[in-house]
Amino acid sequence: MTQIKSKERVSERGEVFTAEREVNAMLDLVKNECLRPDSRFLEPACGDGNFLSAILKRKLAEINRKYKKCIRDYEKQSIVAVSSLYGIDIMYDNVETCRERLYKIWNEEYTAVCKNDSSDDTREAVRFIIQKNIITGNALTLMCVDKNCNDTNEPIVFSEWTLIGESKMQRSDYTMADLLLYNDTTSNEGNLFALTEEQQEKEGVFLRRYITHYKKVQQYGG
Ligand SMILES: C[S@@+](CC[C@H](N)C(=O)[O-])C[C@H]1O[C@@H](n2cnc3c(N)ncnc32)[C@H](O)[C@@H]1O
Repeated sequence: MTQIKSKERVSERGEVFTAEREVNAMLDLVKNECLRPDSRFLEPACGDGNFLSAILKRKLAEINRKYKKCIRDYEKQSIVAVSSLYGIDIMYDNVETCRERLYKIWNEEYTAVCKNDSSDDTREAVRFIIQKNIITGNALTLMCVDKNCNDTNEPIVFSEWTLIGESKMQRSDYTMADLLLYNDTTSNEGNLFALTEEQQEKEGVFLRRYITHYKKVQQYGG
């Protein structure tokens, strides 16, 4: 894959993609985090997803190794893996490509492992999660952008996805501004998602919360 799309994009946006060898060398530095299905990664200038794709492949390989004999567990853990990956890029086409890459990697594995037990509801849920997690935005102003890379009035909002019990998925939405605020002011190392529910509610930080079946997360759009 080429590392440069055009000279203009390099000079305007600093767009030079990282080669696979460097991506893997860097991920080796956090090897164990790349194996845990629920370890969260945010790439604030994700490009077309070189890092996020490689992390997803590592997580899915581990999930395959551990859960392939139990289709239901495999399915849930593979959703946890994909829902833990977050990205922002200012260029629409990069975001579209990144979303497609993540979905393709997930779907190929899912279909190969779950075969006749795979379901289109699950595929739709994963498409929705990826669309929520990979955002066209400006990581400096923390606002979503339009197709011309100009800020809109919409803040960047991330959803935390948490499996509850056998089959429920909780989605809690936070603005990125709040996530960064906590990075500066708490001892939780910037992980707002790691605050207890009581702490979160006391601070009133999450915007909204939905709980539904993990195959139906798309029923609450937005
Ligand atoms: C050096 S490239 C890295 C891409 C990817 N992380 C990789 O390693 O392959 C920088 C990326 O940042 C994006 N970018 C530039 N300014 C940005 C901003 N203010 N907010 C979000 N993304 C931005 C560009 O569109 C480009 O995709």
